[in-house]
Order: sequence, then structure tokens, then C-alpha cells
Amino acid sequence: MSTQTHGSDGARDGGAGHPPNSEILRLEDVGKSYGNVHALRGVSLSVRQGEITCVLGDNGAGKSTLIKVIAGLHQHTDGHLVVNGEEVRFTSPRDSLERGIATVYQDLALVPLMSIWRNFFLGSEMTTGFGPFKRLDVKRMTVIADEELTKMGISVPDLERPVGALSGGQRQCIAIARAIYFGAKVLILDEPTAALGVKQSGVVLKYVAKARDAGLGVIFITHNPHHAYLVGNHFVILNRGNVSLDRSRADITLEQLTNEMAGGSELQALSHELSAPGQTPEPAAALAASRQTGR
Ligand SMILES: Nc1ncnc2c1ncn2[C@@H]1O[C@H](COP(=O)(O)OP(=O)(O)OP(=O)(O)O)[C@@H](O)[C@H]1O
Ligand SMILES: [Mg+2]
Repeated sequence: MSTQTHGSDGARDGGAGHPPNSEILRLEDVGKSYGNVHALRGVSLSVRQGEITCVLGDNGAGKSTLIKVIAGLHQHTDGHLVVNGEEVRFTSPRDSLERGIATVYQDLALVPLMSIWRNFFLGSEMTTGFGPFKRLDVKRMTVIADEELTKMGISVPDLERPVGALSGGQRQCIAIARAIYFGAKVLILDEPTAALGVKQSGVVLKYVAKARDAGLGVIFITHNPHHAYLVGNHFVILNRGNVSLDRSRADITLEQLTNEMAGGSELQALSHELSAPGQTPEPAAALAASRQTGR
């Protein structure tokens, strides 16, 4: 289980007390070493309410490490982590959760054998009665889960169905709806579209945008610049633990992002190496695009 929830109904005001686009989370020169391995070095980035900050990077770039630091699973070894203007050092996922940071991990978002409504309330179950008569308030939880999913435009005909029977995309959407309902202020999504086809990715991206519109600050981790560019307000590329690019949407095109992400010059060299004799090498951007889309 991994979407973390906290509090209760407070989320839907989009983060009370904060004007839209105010900074909710900041990393200043954050470093993380595992012994001699520097997984992150001097990473600075900022997450604002009502915005999607995309973190891109190749395998081993440090994306998961970054999430783990923000989610309280690992501690940073250098720099500062600032939430709502206050420096924090998380020692457990609960610390992060209590600050309103919800993390949806790719494969562990929900418990497959449990029903949809049960998953929606996992860890924050509603009960009825007192003492020995205390029971789960199944009816109320089912009604609320139904209302909340409908509000997000997620149609599931039967909330008693096990989550395992749903598609990967639907599971991600339910995990996002749950984080919004339980009052998350920051939502971290770890490659939510990585295992999905084009259509399902589109559905998930729509809910990522809904989380943004509900006022959350979203950190969207992805390998795919096309997905990032569809929804992102801000783009950060990690390269071997360092930030190699940090731009607002207005300052970068999709083509530039794709090129940067793929390491434009490395691809140019590869393109020359791979081209058959007499054949014109493909421009790096085209190669980068085909690499990202798998075409
Ligand atoms: N627990 C750990 N102990 C030692 N080294 C680690 C640990 N976790 C990660 N690393 C190293 O830190 C670096 C960054 O890894 P990380 O998993 O953060 O990359 P990533 O960007 O998430 O990659 P991927 O796209 O493959 O998931 C890698 O060199 C990795 O081997
Ligand atoms: Mg990873």
C-alpha cells in the first residue's frame, strides 16, 4: 500500500491558506549518498500549488532516490528540504504524510485482492458504533468512494470488485482520487504512465491534471518527455544525480525537452555510428523522439 492519506475532508479547497502557485515544497542543494555512491548531488527544485513539476531522467539518474527523500523513506545527506517554508528532516514516511505529502508508487499503489472501496479507505477506515460494537462503516465508505470517483469522472460499475481486476491505468486514477480526497497538498507520482499504452496513459494524464486543478502541487516522475509536456508547468532533468536542466514551460519547447532528455550530442554521435554507408544520419531530435515513443 502506498498512496498515503491523512487528515480528512480538507483537501478540496485546494490547500487552504495558500494563494495558488505559492511554493509548497523546496529542495536546496540536496545530496544523497549511499556509501560511495552519490545518487543525488546539489539538487534544487521547487514545487508550487496548482502546478505540475515534471522530473525526467534516464535509468539511474536518481529519480527514485529523490522521491524516497521527499517521501521520508530515506534521509538526505546534504542540503535542505523545506515544506511550507519550514525546514524538515523526515525520519519515516509518516513524517512526510503528516506534512500532506502523498506518494503513489508505480506498482504498489493499491492492494489487488481488496475491493475498490476498501482500497480507497485503506488505513483511514470509517467506523460506526463504540467499543466492542465498533464495526467498519461499509455503507458510508462505499457511498463516499462512489461519489468521489464519480466526481473525478472515473467510472467503475461495481465498487465491490477487487482492484486486481482493474487496468493499471484505472488503479493509478483511483490512487490519485484517494490522495485528493484525503487532503494531500503534494502528490508524488512515480512513473504513473510507464507501463501503460497510449490510451490509458491519456486517461491517467487527465487525472494528473485534475490533481493540479484541485490545487495540489504535483511531482510527476517520468522517462517520457511527451507525457511530461502534455501536462507539465515546470521541467527538471536529472542526469547522474545532478540537475542538468530546470525550465518553465514558457522557456522550452517539446523538441528541446526531448533532445535534452535524450542527451542531444550523445544521440548525434550514435546516429552517425549507426547510419549505413551513404545514408544521411537522422537528426538527433528525430532519434530522440523515436526513442521516447518507441516508434
Ligand atoms: N539503496 C541503495 N544503495 C546503494 N545505491 C543505490 C541505492 N538506491 C539507489 N542507488 C544508486 O543510486 C543511483 C540512482 O538510482 P535511482 O534508483 O534513484 O535512479 P532512477 O532515476 O530511479 O532510475 P530508474 O529510471 O532506473 O528507476 C544509481 O546509481 C543506483 O545504483
Ligand atoms: Mg527509479
